Amino acid sequence: MANEVFNRVAALITEIENATAETPEAVEAFRIRYLGSKNILKPLMGEMRNIPNEQKRDFGQLVNKAKETAQSKFDALQAATQDNAGADAGAKFDLTAPAEPMPLGSRHPIALTMRRIISIFERIGFTVAEGPEVEDDWHNFTAMNTPEDHPARDMQDTFYVATGMPAGPDNADMLLRTHTSSVQARTMETSKPPIRIIAPGRVYRNETISARSHAQFHQVEGLYIAEKCSFADMKATLLHFAREMYGDKTKIRLRPSYFPFTEPSAEMDIWWGLESEHDYRITKGTGWLEILGCGMVDPEVLKNCGIDPEKYTGYAFGMGIERQAMLLYNITDIRLMFENDVRFLKQFSGVI
Ligand code: PHE
Repeated sequence: MANEVFNRVAALITEIENATAETPEAVEAFRIRYLGSKNILKPLMGEMRNIPNEQKRDFGQLVNKAKETAQSKFDALQAATQDNAGADAGAKFDLTAPAEPMPLGSRHPIALTMRRIISIFERIGFTVAEGPEVEDDWHNFTAMNTPEDHPARDMQDTFYVATGMPAGPDNADMLLRTHTSSVQARTMETSKPPIRIIAPGRVYRNETISARSHAQFHQVEGLYIAEKCSFADMKATLLHFAREMYGDKTKIRLRPSYFPFTEPSAEMDIWWGLESEHDYRITKGTGWLEILGCGMVDPEVLKNCGIDPEKYTGYAFGMGIERQAMLLYNITDIRLMFENDVRFLKQFSGVI
């Protein structure tokens, strides 16, 4: 009796081993017969009670062997039919295939240029300071020695922010800062000399958008205040910057200029050269390229911000970032930098 049950299981194992299935449907039929929820191996365990005790263990092992054989046969049949069916019918993922490379993001050319400028100044002891982009009139203009009717306010066509409240002493005019010089005022108000900061950030002006100018752009501001700080100190610092940024042979020139918050004021050009048609165009035929505005901090500004102009002097400078990014990376249209077109952006992947 017991032998008969053993033989039935052994016969089933042989049957499973010899089974064939050429199509996915036949494989499915195999699965239902031997592995499905009502498979024919299931009732065998019920036979256990008819097996003498000393044979129960062997019987259990034989039934398990039948189940395992069914499972591995099923795996083999399934793999075989899928190979036959080609790539598209019931395709399985090939987990050993090399992964698709993940597209990596890249730094924006403005960020790259900004980081480069910041790191040059950090290495000579400047620290980064920041201020708000929505600024009040005081920090952007008045503290910076630019009174209400001052023509310099026209130089920097301003976006005002409607606060919905009447103008008055408690309600300063709010605006999108037109330059990072507002951070000069904020820093001087809250810290004592010596002050040595750079302030990178976004600024806004009501400009007509073209290939060369935009209504939003970025600047890096610099401010140095100490006892006996001179114009020569400023010039040496800016020459150092120009050489770190554009090569150690770079020449600079300072042209007299005007800003309400510095006196004297200057603009700094770097010698770019006139070697190619392209150089000719970007320097308008002069070979010189304007990089930044600078000057000695006007004593009025020091006073406005609570610093004693009898004791301290200082210099400040401010430079646009987009112009320099365009030079460094040969970008011919500033608008590309604000369009987020991946074809443009991905050209900077891998640039650190
Ligand atoms: N704020 C000036 C500008 O936006 C640049 C500048 C900064 C000039 C500091 C002098 C000193 O053009």
